[in-house]
Amino acid sequence: MQSSKEYVEQHKNRFLNELIELLKIPSVSADSAFSQDVINTAEVVEKALVNAGCDLVELCETDGYPIVYGEKIIDPSLPTVLVYGHYDVQPPDPVELWDSPPFEPVIKETEEHPEGAIFARGASDDKGQMYMHVKALEFMVKTDQLPCNVKFMIEGEEEVGSVNIATYVANNKEKLKNDVILISDTGMISKEFPSITTGLRGLSYVEVEVTGPNRDLHSGLYGGAVANPINILTKMIASLHDGDNHITIPGFYDKVEELSSEERAEMAKAPFDINTYQNALEIESVYGEKGYTTNERNSIRPTLDVNGIWGGYTGEGAKTVIPSKAYAKISMRLVPHQDWKEITELFVKHFNEIAPKGAKVKVTPHHGGQGYVTPIDTIAYQAASKAYETTFGKTPIPQRSGGSIPIVSLFEEELGSKTILMGFGLDSNAIHSPNEHYGLWYYYKGIETIPYFFKYFTEMMASK
Ligand code: BES
Ligand code: MN
Ligand code: MN
Repeated sequence: MQSSKEYVEQHKNRFLNELIELLKIPSVSADSAFSQDVINTAEVVEKALVNAGCDLVELCETDGYPIVYGEKIIDPSLPTVLVYGHYDVQPPDPVELWDSPPFEPVIKETEEHPEGAIFARGASDDKGQMYMHVKALEFMVKTDQLPCNVKFMIEGEEEVGSVNIATYVANNKEKLKNDVILISDTGMISKEFPSITTGLRGLSYVEVEVTGPNRDLHSGLYGGAVANPINILTKMIASLHDGDNHITIPGFYDKVEELSSEERAEMAKAPFDINTYQNALEIESVYGEKGYTTNERNSIRPTLDVNGIWGGYTGEGAKTVIPSKAYAKISMRLVPHQDWKEITELFVKHFNEIAPKGAKVKVTPHHGGQGYVTPIDTIAYQAASKAYETTFGKTPIPQRSGGSIPIVSLFEEELGSKTILMGFGLDSNAIHSPNEHYGLWYYYKGIETIPYFFKYFTEMMASK
């Protein structure tokens, strides 16, 4: 029987060309100027699932972008794997910082990717990783090696908070029923040290507005006598962390899961080189919450960060003005047990309380989501681990990630399903940044590895 490795070798050029076509469509969900492109992308994914061998494929309308649903049910008594991914991408800007246009994919060899990497928005997050599953299905169907049932649910609003998909999941519980959910939308440590993502952080995203006087004022005539909203806002923001970089919002840490010293010692075994980390970012030192390591700070600890701040005069030259308003967008990454709605409320309350007299504060919550932890003592995790052992020759390291995929906790709530996060990206893939790329080696390795998950999962379920 043909192995997935041989199948990939035989079809790799076509697999690459198909991905290139997918990456050419600018499916930016955040910007309505691209709405037709987002819809076109859904249709390309729909056709790809048909070609790969799904028996039923449909575009499911939502109040936003459609969900591409596909399935191949070979025997209802066998287990069912639900594959989730997203076909939308982040906005490409700042476009001028890209070395090649974001929607004109190019293959380049780099030091890190001597086999070549594909540069385009969405190459790693998530078109490239999502498409590995479509090609893995093709392999299993065409070579008669699909061992169980498979369902696909590929959405177009992940990068804007998956707002409409929640309704879809709640209304389609029977249709989406599964034994495990499989997602490739995260990363791994390196090819030498493959890892499986076992945690995602939650998120609360808010926008704040501070208003001082009712109009912009001459900064000489009024300067010193009225509250300058930018001065006020930056002072308020600065006060959200103390000298040890702990977050000062009352109650913020109340529900934070504290890891035992054994768990922290286990985490510390993962290979990590602080110098490589600092050099890659051209920083002289890392920075963060006192008492925690870098890997802890960006995975098991919650954070608060300003994502954007604006107000007043930012054009050429100098204009003397006290602006009427100042704004910021703030994200809080949350860890297990913190509830994003509760944290949002705590933020709103605290931010209003610390506003000085003479300034008005308005907080508008955006989207959010709960964190997630994948248990490793399950058949699904063991099957994933064995799949990596087969294709990488090494046992993967379980590692929690700092990123968020809010739909994952919702899947558990609504469908009662656990999720396995088999991510094949690297932190250096520059997702959400200029020059996003995905190593071809990882793309092909993913296609090679995924079918083994199906195989081992089905076998282990049968002998449970
Ligand atoms: N795929 C990412 C999340 C991710 C990347 C998790 C790498 C772990 C490792 C996803 O597309 C994403 O960008 N999520 C957003 C949240 C969403 C609500 C916009 C995020 O984490 O900022
Ligand atoms: Mn993603
Ligand atoms: Mn993303």
